[in-house]
Amino acid sequence: MRVHWFLVSSIADEVSRRRTFAIISHPDAGKSTMTEALALHARVINEAGAIHGKAGRKSTVSDWMEMEKARGISVSSTALQFNYTSSGADDDAEPSVINLVDTPGHADFSEDTYRVLTAVDAAVMLIDAAKGLEPQTLKLFQVCRHRGIPVITVINKWDRPGRTPLELLDEISERIGLTPTPLFWPVGIAGDFRGLRDVRKDEYVHFTRTAGGAKIAPEEHLSTDAALDREGDVWAEAVEETELMTEMGQGHDQEMFLAGQTSPVIFTSAILNFGVRQLLEALVELAPAPHSRESTEGTLREVTDPFSAVVFKVQAGMDAAHRDRLAFMRIVSGEFERGMVVQHAQTGKPFATKYAMTVVGRDRETVETAYPGDVVGLVNANALAPGDTLYDGAKVQFPPIPSFAPEHFAVVRADSAGKYKQFRKGIEQLGTEGVVQLLRNDVRGDASPVMAAVGPMQFEVVVARMKTEFNVDVQVEHLGYSVARRTDSASADELNRQRGVEVFERNDGALLALFSDKWRLQYIEKEHPALTLDPLVAAA
Ligand code: G4P
Repeated sequence: MRVHWFLVSSIADEVSRRRTFAIISHPDAGKSTMTEALALHARVINEAGAIHGKAGRKSTVSDWMEMEKARGISVSSTALQFNYTSSGADDDAEPSVINLVDTPGHADFSEDTYRVLTAVDAAVMLIDAAKGLEPQTLKLFQVCRHRGIPVITVINKWDRPGRTPLELLDEISERIGLTPTPLFWPVGIAGDFRGLRDVRKDEYVHFTRTAGGAKIAPEEHLSTDAALDREGDVWAEAVEETELMTEMGQGHDQEMFLAGQTSPVIFTSAILNFGVRQLLEALVELAPAPHSRESTEGTLREVTDPFSAVVFKVQAGMDAAHRDRLAFMRIVSGEFERGMVVQHAQTGKPFATKYAMTVVGRDRETVETAYPGDVVGLVNANALAPGDTLYDGAKVQFPPIPSFAPEHFAVVRADSAGKYKQFRKGIEQLGTEGVVQLLRNDVRGDASPVMAAVGPMQFEVVVARMKTEFNVDVQVEHLGYSVARRTDSASADELNRQRGVEVFERNDGALLALFSDKWRLQYIEKEHPALTLDPLVAAA
């Protein structure tokens, strides 16, 4: 009994110091640069500039991996974990553990990008000061809103000419209905970044540049009077603007932030390392620690309950030396110890976790223990698919990860009829992993299923993987559909009679109707109001 109590309290301690988040942004807003800046501030690396190997900044990607290995931190293409000691923390306080889960996908989007957001407790919405809200940021933000994930807003690249702070914040409140509540306001216009006004402490944080932005930028903290002496009108303007925000009721409110109604705002320059410490502090102070999760039955799995986890991503053939599949799970409750035999809720079968890993660059490291909020990769996890639950002790199953509305559709078939068996096996496998959704109907038959995806690059992934892993050349033929709706068997016949519409069964059993375009859909909805045509979980 005492042992049990001790375990529970130590798990509770581990949980309370963890923060698991993702950065949501449009390509080029500075996600990689910010990731590196966060690692620099957490003292995981000594010098920035490694990721991109910029001229004048040091190192190469492999040095970055070397540095990480030397410091024993775990980075993977999926999650970066590091300790961070808050500047105001007591000397004997345990550091916070930060899990930064990567949102993959650049110009193209896949469901993986969305699924990652099921594994985090908070998101940092990174915006380019010159560009404001961009399409992929908007899509990802909608997923956060849908899942109730609180969002911290970071306006990056303040060292470059851009818009005014008020314009940027207006755009956020008007376009997405999120109320921005500034924590750190820029002193100096975009392109003349001198420092930040700490709105809550009413002080000036002045930054000094370091060569190439490679080191942590030294900070000076000044009182209001000293700030006015030093910066004159530039300071006065920052004060005036923040007071305007406060008068409009846009001060930080923790409850409203956690409810997803407001978003604390910080202005940064990831490349100069300005405002990065402030972001880490905000994550530790304001972002929620891992919390209980609701099961399919509606009960809550508390973080101190026995082990449970959700698989949120399956990745295959990460490199030639390890041609196998890794399933990444986010721990929901309890302590994970490598070697545990846990239960796989979907199949009811035991699953041995002897090969639990973090992936460091191209190398892998074994994980011995992990806690709620942490991400662990399981090797050769062929039975696991995104959304699956693993648990120990009392049975639990978490709701599946919703499939997002696909916008791209293509028929896939084997080049040679002789390879049909491998073709089927491979396509089924990729469908289970969630690389694409698979759609079938009687008219098209089994030999040429339709693939549905959020982004068209997924089709290329299928072609490449079918060739390398299943030794089958496939042909892909794009279809002229662009909108999908969920329907039911009562509506299917009528829909199939319509021009520009086709009904399919998806691999999860749902019936989907595909439409050539949204006007066709609108026309049919108007002409046949009794048909069931429900929107899928739409990210856009
Ligand atoms: P991403 O992961 O979101 O796609 O963005 P990434 O960090 O790769 O940054 C995209 C570009 O923006 C890079 O420049 C990077 O140096 C620059 N950048 C990121 N943060 C800041 C910032 O705070 N201020 C300024 N001025 N630039 C920033 P690039 O020219 O595309 O790459 P490179 O040629 O410098 O490697």
